[in-house]
Amino acid sequence: MSIIRSRLAGVGAYLPERIVTNDDLAKIVDTSDDWIVERSGIRQRHIAADGELTSDLATAAAREAMEDAGVTAADIDLIVIGTTTPDDTFPATAVKVQANLGVHQGFAFDVQAVCSGFLYALATADKFIRSGDVKTALVIGAETFSRILDWTDRDTCVLFGDGAGAVVLKAAESEGKNTDVGILSTHLHADGRHRDLLYVDGGPSSTQTVGHVRMEGKEVFRHAVTKLAGVVDEALSANGLSSADLDWMVPHQANRRILAMTAKKVGMSEANVVVTLDKHANTSAASIPLALHTAVRDGRIKPGHLVLIEAMGGGFAWGSALVRM
Ligand code: UT7
Repeated sequence: MSIIRSRLAGVGAYLPERIVTNDDLAKIVDTSDDWIVERSGIRQRHIAADGELTSDLATAAAREAMEDAGVTAADIDLIVIGTTTPDDTFPATAVKVQANLGVHQGFAFDVQAVCSGFLYALATADKFIRSGDVKTALVIGAETFSRILDWTDRDTCVLFGDGAGAVVLKAAESEGKNTDVGILSTHLHADGRHRDLLYVDGGPSSTQTVGHVRMEGKEVFRHAVTKLAGVVDEALSANGLSSADLDWMVPHQANRRILAMTAKKVGMSEANVVVTLDKHANTSAASIPLALHTAVRDGRIKPGHLVLIEAMGGGFAWGSALVRM
């Protein structure tokens, strides 16, 4: 049966120039390089310059993805950005990026699913493509997470960073089989009962401030391992595949120990898990497209490879996408 699928036609990424190491952070909060590396795997993070906005990071990543895909501004029907750190309360950061790129048609909006933001954006764009409404979509994960951190709170400020990643999706006729190229499935979940384990203590309606990230790290960790192993199994069984069929896992980059435990639970070698958190830290919605970009550019992920994308974060919101490159 012939169906429309979304193919990944290009990838792009952007990281702010300034690198902040764990030793740099040990000068402002009571922490150490040893603690951060041992408990999280993070060694450094990029931090946006004063005046450098989420839309600037997103625009740079989008430009690279469009060039990689060989598309121009006239080709883009839809822009979806996953972000928790929009430039402004409104309009959407996606509309600013649309203007920056010189895209004057189609539609553009943000989705808010924190660390699962890119996954939610990807799933949303995929649905528009599969419905036939959209031919070419730009999907971006972009964050200036440093702006919502409490730099006196060592529980959270050592874990996050800034960055952006983007992909171009193109509609393609496919056979409807699990051997097709493109997005084979997406599965999204949310459960608002866990709101208090990971949240920001501010917002336009509640406090009229932006607020700072608050997290019960241990509890989030516990939920993450169970929920992530669950969505990997869900994606594989929905497609009649097993973990032996996977070439790569590209997870949200929160904690090295979460990645290792999830890989073990689903029976994958850690060698097939793309890890970038040592260099980028947790960039929330940007972490997956940044990791995907890294592994595509260094030649690990090749055309035809089967890639499992998964994320879990604030909300809780979590999910997966299974993609053949
Ligand atoms: O992206 C969204 C999803 N987020 C996540 O998935 C994050 C999930 N959680 C985690 O990654 C981990 O729980 C953390 C890395 C946040 C923390 O690791 P942990 O092994 O759970 O440590 P902990 O919170 O139990 O803290 C252990 C100790 C505590 O001291 P006491 O109470 O044992 O004396 C903390 O106060 O480490 C202390 N601590 C620190 N020490 C040095 C907490 N933060 C720091 C720090 N430097 N930055």
